[in-house]
Amino acid sequence: MPRFAMTAATLLAILAGGPALAGDAADRAAILAGYAERAAADDPAFTGFSAARGEELFRTRWAGGDARTPSCTACHTNDPRAQGRNAKTGRPIEPVAVSVEPDRFTDIDEVEKQFRRDCDAVLGRPCTPREKGDYIAFMQEQ
Ligand code: HEC
Repeated sequence: MPRFAMTAATLLAILAGGPALAGDAADRAAILAGYAERAAADDPAFTGFSAARGEELFRTRWAGGDARTPSCTACHTNDPRAQGRNAKTGRPIEPVAVSVEPDRFTDIDEVEKQFRRDCDAVLGRPCTPREKGDYIAFMQEQ
């Protein structure tokens, strides 16, 4: 686990008054805490992630990326609980909703790799730490 994630997990445990989270939920919370630190560094007015903004990121048809993938839904479908399909390769993609796949967004290397690839394909630019946190906040509620 990268150091920032460990620090964030520790901080979170302290704030929560004890080790309230375990396993996948703790790993996801640590990733979110890491993004929150970076979002706050980017913007001192940052007050927290928003599932509503995450949904907007997910559903918006962006311009600037690959024409085959104007939105996240191009591969992940309109329904995060449904199985997706890679618009470029045709390969199936497991659902991205945490309720269906509880181990979603628990491996920082995997999460960062996919944000890098997918935001570039869809937005034509990297997603910001705030956008990443918003996206995970949305998927946690799905
Ligand atoms: C070209 C198809 C494609 C598009 C478009 C796409 N994704 Fe993905 N995404 C994938 C694939 C393939 C995976 C890896 C397989 C998996 O996790 O099941 C993945 C996985 C991810 C993961 C890692 C999930 C985890 O559990 O670690 C994140 C984060 C992610 N996508 C975010 C996004 C965002 C944000 C967008 C829109 C900006 C998006 N994706 C658009 C294909 C796509």
